[in-house]
Amino acid sequence: MNPAIELCDVTLRYGNQPVLEGLSLSVRQGDVLALLGPSGCGKSTLLRLILGFIAPAQGHLRLDGAVVSGEGRVLQPPEARRLAVVFQDLALWPHLTVQENLAFGLAAQKIPTQEREQRIAHMLARVGLGEKATRYPGDLSGGERQRVAIARALVLEPRAVLLDEPLANVDVALKAELLGLFREVLKEREVTTVYVSHDLSEAMALGARAAVLETGRLVQHGSFDDLRSAPATPFVQALVNNAAWKNIQVEPDGADRVADDLPER
Ligand SMILES: Nc1ncnc2c1ncn2[C@@H]1O[C@H](COP(=O)(O)OP(=O)(O)OP(=O)(O)O)[C@@H](O)[C@H]1O
Ligand SMILES: [Mg+2]
Repeated sequence: MNPAIELCDVTLRYGNQPVLEGLSLSVRQGDVLALLGPSGCGKSTLLRLILGFIAPAQGHLRLDGAVVSGEGRVLQPPEARRLAVVFQDLALWPHLTVQENLAFGLAAQKIPTQEREQRIAHMLARVGLGEKATRYPGDLSGGERQRVAIARALVLEPRAVLLDEPLANVDVALKAELLGLFREVLKEREVTTVYVSHDLSEAMALGARAAVLETGRLVQHGSFDDLRSAPATPFVQALVNNAAWKNIQVEPDGADRVADDLPER
């Protein structure tokens, strides 16, 4: 089967400034990939490229085997890519209720009313918001707003979901809880996921493989064990050390997760 997302030798520039260079990376259908790297290394740019807002100067991007951008051109526009995205600020519509926030994208896809309502009710129940469907985002806790944002992305049944540091502003205990929920829901639905973070322990809590970017280049791609046993650069070593400091537990089946009682940093 073709990878869900495949970047082939991609170079991308803003003006004369190279931001991504010679980047090749693929994500299999249903896999969760964590994209890590220092600030300014090109993580959000890579998501914008996958979404179709910018095109690579060289190389190309395939979705399910089809070339959708390449050699300076966006060949398939963002709205045709069936991708969903969650940004750090969540961007919920404050004047719409929780269920209306979820309905918006489904209405744009012309999903019939009855199916729309069923999908929304099911999705909200799954993320523990069944009782809050008619609330406005301003009347929810931060954790509840995070749940609305992931539910709004997943209710679209996208080809893949792209998350750009969605938990950056969340405290440690809530982060562990939400990562556990994300992990379960993404696995159940077999959604291909790219999750941008600064923190390898978040990647592990999601059960994700990690791809590490530095100054627009991929320096390492693998499991936590790969990164720990042979860190490719001092930055990767620091990511591993930081995750180890956070007392990560490895479950017997080999899946990694963050301990529930993480110390506050
Ligand atoms: N529209 C733009 N025009 C010109 N340069 C840009 C533009 N957007 C981003 N850049 C530059 O491209 C580089 C990569 O930015 P990007 O936002 O992808 O980094 P990032 O890895 O997401 O960083 P962070 O972790 O801080 O979010 C940075 O040097 C940034 O200043
Ligand atoms: Mg960014």
